[in-house]
Amino acid sequence: MTSIAVSSQKGGVGKTTLSINLAHAFARVGIKTLLVDADPQGSVGHSLTRQSRLLTGFYDFLADPGIPMERLVVPTRLETFSLVASGQAGDYEAGGGGNGSHLARVRAFLRAVAQRGFDLCLMDTAAGLFGVTGDVVATCDAVLIPQQAEPLGIRSVPKLLEGLQRLRIMNPHLNVLGVCLSMVQPDLADSREVATTLRQILPPEWLFQTHIPRDPLFIRASARGLPVGLLEAGAGVQRVFDALRSEIEVKLGRAPSAR
Ligand SMILES: Nc1ncnc2c1ncn2[C@@H]1O[C@H](COP(=O)(O)OP(=O)(O)OP(=O)(O)O)[C@@H](O)[C@H]1O
Ligand SMILES: [Mg+2]
Repeated sequence: MTSIAVSSQKGGVGKTTLSINLAHAFARVGIKTLLVDADPQGSVGHSLTRQSRLLTGFYDFLADPGIPMERLVVPTRLETFSLVASGQAGDYEAGGGGNGSHLARVRAFLRAVAQRGFDLCLMDTAAGLFGVTGDVVATCDAVLIPQQAEPLGIRSVPKLLEGLQRLRIMNPHLNVLGVCLSMVQPDLADSREVATTLRQILPPEWLFQTHIPRDPLFIRASARGLPVGLLEAGAGVQRVFDALRSEIEVKLGRAPSAR
């Protein structure tokens, strides 16, 4: 099994949106995918399941690793796509503490997920690279960082690189898949300029060719509790996530799945 954390120093950059749609892009080609809401705000759950607040989830497991996986995994209409909600326990009930205090439990969680036969575990995290998020990134095989293609995004790059450096020290095996530009507006000169600048300041091997466009379809999809690809008008955006999936597969040393 491969585990990928979707993380960023900055909030509101499109982590949850990317996680949901990327997980669906993997699942639709038959890769057994588990999408884990590792953000105590529970955004994945809010987007995809109505009763998410009632579900036992990831933070409950951190508080009590005796909870069996079958109580956590929520199936979807797509057989290869399952979810784990964030749960009812907050990060404080999960044991609070500083960096590193949840490492053993996050590891136990990923072992249990692997034992259930998943091929991929995608983890949407809360913004910042500390606390539980830091422990998730330090435990996962790989990390993917969405970066908003807006002027403020550029200012956060030095912090982003510094944070990644720190995580690589904590987890020398971490595969930094790279930065994926999000909310790109190709019709706006300012957005194009930011995208070009980010392409200049980030190490090229850390930047995905694929970028996520800003599109009102994402809001429509989350109102309906669906990945964008399942909307009638969603085929174009679906192709973006299929391309991102292929890029990730290549970075993981695999052949891209055919569709
Ligand atoms: N490509 C996009 N096009 C249009 N709207 C988008 C896009 N990506 C995200 N959004 C919207 O922007 C907002 C923030 O996105 P999202 O929740 O995915 O970010 P996040 O990084 O998970 O935020 P947080 O740090 O709070 O967890 C949401 O309202 C979402 O619907
Ligand atoms: Mg989020």
